[in-house]
Amino acid sequence: MARMLASEIDILRGAAGLIDQGLVALDAEGMVVLASPTARDLLGDDALREGAPFSTSHVDYRVLRLVDTARESGRLEERSLSIRKHDLRVRALPLDDSRVAMLVAISDETRLRHLERVRTDFVSNVSHELRTPVTAVRLLAETLESGGLDDAAAAADFVHRIGLEATHMEQIVEELLELSTIESGLRPLSSERVHVAELLSTVDRLRPLAEDKEVAIDIEVSPGTPDILGDASRLGQVVRNLVHNAIKFTPAGGRIDVRASPGDEGSVVIVCRDTGVGIAPTDLQRVFERFWKADSSRQRDGEGSGLGLAIVRHVVEAHGGSVSVESEPRKGTEFTVRLPAVPPGA
Ligand SMILES: Nc1ncnc2c1ncn2[C@@H]1O[C@H](COP(=O)(O)OP(=O)(O)OP(=O)(O)O)[C@@H](O)[C@H]1O
Ligand SMILES: [Mg+2]
Repeated sequence: MARMLASEIDILRGAAGLIDQGLVALDAEGMVVLASPTARDLLGDDALREGAPFSTSHVDYRVLRLVDTARESGRLEERSLSIRKHDLRVRALPLDDSRVAMLVAISDETRLRHLERVRTDFVSNVSHELRTPVTAVRLLAETLESGGLDDAAAAADFVHRIGLEATHMEQIVEELLELSTIESGLRPLSSERVHVAELLSTVDRLRPLAEDKEVAIDIEVSPGTPDILGDASRLGQVVRNLVHNAIKFTPAGGRIDVRASPGDEGSVVIVCRDTGVGIAPTDLQRVFERFWKADSSRQRDGEGSGLGLAIVRHVVEAHGGSVSVESEPRKGTEFTVRLPAVPPGA
């Protein structure tokens, strides 16, 4: 038979166990009669103890002050506080009861705040990236309308530039759609046997671009590299995105090496190394974020939207793999992708 809840404290303790907020209860003397595990987690493990006075506990002074304010006002008081790197919402409710004279509820809103920030950043980045080409198209069209059409040569050039801007917008929209399709699982990854040499041959599509920039590309697959288990077309995009970046960020005369080899525990390692401009150490963690571009590459308008590496990470992680980057400014950059191999005998 279920145990009866004997007192209010037991009821509170039971309730605190059901909700994901932290709960602290104080008696009329200001002693802690209940400190739920979640509350202790959020306020600091040793910060408060049941049976000890709340006012001399090691709880953040802003929480102590909020409780004092609630006691004085006789009303619910609440505040958002950042405590130990967490965004907390703390509510203090005074009660007319000698056993429980104050209830303090603490909720962790860190994830919520983070998602809010990601969303606003995302929206402002999308608008920023789209605004440039949209404005360009509008200006070009306006110029054509107000007499530009009379000069056939100039008109042809304007129409050509409108086409280029439209292609750029199309690319942004396609990349965004690709990211959200992967995230939503709408078009699941296929799981096929991917031959690594064949996968890397996709780089051939970028050779004209590399030749144009006078950057050499060398591809090598170590003997014994197993096949990968994954989605060939999306993995092709991963490889192209990495090599495309390497070409973009490597000055003439530089070189790009793409190497595939067997990795630990049934994996395949693909390394893409360039002798390009490199990435500052403080930026290394940010390169996989959507829309992130180094300040120097941001200045070159119309050159990509900063989504390529976000797609790389998404696709690789959806395969159960991982991607990492090392770089030395002015020396070069190295991306390492690990992907699951087809199990032996499969
Ligand atoms: N091989 C590299 N060498 C130096 N910097 C790089 C390299 N790869 C990426 N970066 C930096 O990381 C940023 C983000 O790369 P990402 O591929 O996500 O975007 P992008 O190339 O600017 O645009 P997109 O790929 O959407 O066309 C780049 O703008 C650049 O600043
Ligand atoms: Mg890119």
